[in-house]
Amino acid sequence: MRQTKKEVKDLIDFLKKSPTAFHAVANLRAELLQAGFTELPERTRWNLVPGGRYFTTRNGSSIIAFRVGAELKDPGFMVTASHSDSPCFKIKENAEIRVMNHYVQLNTEGYGGMICSTWFDRPLSVAGRVLVRKKNEDGSERYETRLIDFDRDLLLIPNVAIHMNRKVNDGMAYNKQIDLLPLLGTGEMQQGEFRKLVAAEAGTEEKNLLGCDLFLYSRTQPTVWGANNEFLSAGRLDDLECAYGNLKGFLQGGCEKNIQVYCCFDNEEVGSLTKQGAASTFLSDVLYRVASGLGMDDEDYRCMTARSFMLSCDNAHAVHPNHPEKTDVGNHVFMNEGIVIKSHAGQKYTSDAVSVALFRGVCEKAGVPVQFFANRSDEAGGSTLGNIAMAQVSMNTVDLGLAQLAMHSAYETAGVADLGYLESASAAFYHTYLTADAAGNLVAAE
Ligand code: CO
Repeated sequence: MRQTKKEVKDLIDFLKKSPTAFHAVANLRAELLQAGFTELPERTRWNLVPGGRYFTTRNGSSIIAFRVGAELKDPGFMVTASHSDSPCFKIKENAEIRVMNHYVQLNTEGYGGMICSTWFDRPLSVAGRVLVRKKNEDGSERYETRLIDFDRDLLLIPNVAIHMNRKVNDGMAYNKQIDLLPLLGTGEMQQGEFRKLVAAEAGTEEKNLLGCDLFLYSRTQPTVWGANNEFLSAGRLDDLECAYGNLKGFLQGGCEKNIQVYCCFDNEEVGSLTKQGAASTFLSDVLYRVASGLGMDDEDYRCMTARSFMLSCDNAHAVHPNHPEKTDVGNHVFMNEGIVIKSHAGQKYTSDAVSVALFRGVCEKAGVPVQFFANRSDEAGGSTLGNIAMAQVSMNTVDLGLAQLAMHSAYETAGVADLGYLESASAAFYHTYLTADAAGNLVAAE
């Protein structure tokens, strides 16, 4: 039986303390600070130096870190991008619902496209961000952001017994306003008690609790399993597995002649159209400010983006053991068999001959196996963040990910070998220096 590798144990720790995008970004931020990166708030001017290492966050749920090479030479940006959010349920403002005066449940709505059935009959908890009002000495008020995580079994969405629904195994259509509301307590609960619990968790009084972004999350703990310990199951593998693998590669250093960029965006699961999503100006704002902070002008910036390259990293669908027919005849992938390069004729995946060739070369150098994924031509497939980000700042981009089962389940499954592959490929990518020869052909060097 294989020993669980250190990077998998580290990922499990990261997943356990990252129940929401806010927590994931707080933990990524902590790793960057520990590695000696300097935080640059977006609202202050940036002064950058060659050799410097920096990061910034937006909304506390998206983060971009960058390392400026010490000896810049016709630099470009070498970018990886992943997402910090996962499908779940968001708690509404006036959340308590009393049922026949014997139950208290919470009113929620879906965030992203989850597999509803996976949320039933398992302990759930609540985590997220709250805004707390504080009084300053001069009488002014400030609004403090606090992350909370109840970190205990707090709620559960019970199934209807099969005796009351004989058709439960014939394919259920779940109604999110009826079937998926979680049970919090009995009729003994006071009206408004949930808000009091949240206020207490945030270390404040209810009257000072002014804003909440709170989500349900599954309490089922990650586990490594299989005959040879070859599988990892956990919530939020899509896409925190990539977010974590990219970061570990990023922290291994990079080419001194260009600028390495690590991005993790919120709101991919709801279309990325937020101020901090991949469709926002966050990435282009940061890249432009890196260029200007290094004393470069607008023309230099255009040259830099033309020399840039992005890995758009989001997990991919492994062949399902019970349903191999769901995948393409030749372009199907398996867990533990390497990084998945995704292609789509309609360009929901950005991969093209140029970006595939370059990334394949990087993986070959790093000794990392690759596999190719395409949707069946009669299936729509999913979308991700690479092509969306290109609307704001355009560069050669390849879509890739790690093979997994049960995407958007509350408990997903991946292969234990693949995280290490992503870490190695990310590190090799960040060490690559990209130029073009006189004919415009891409040239990759160390
Ligand atoms: Co994803």
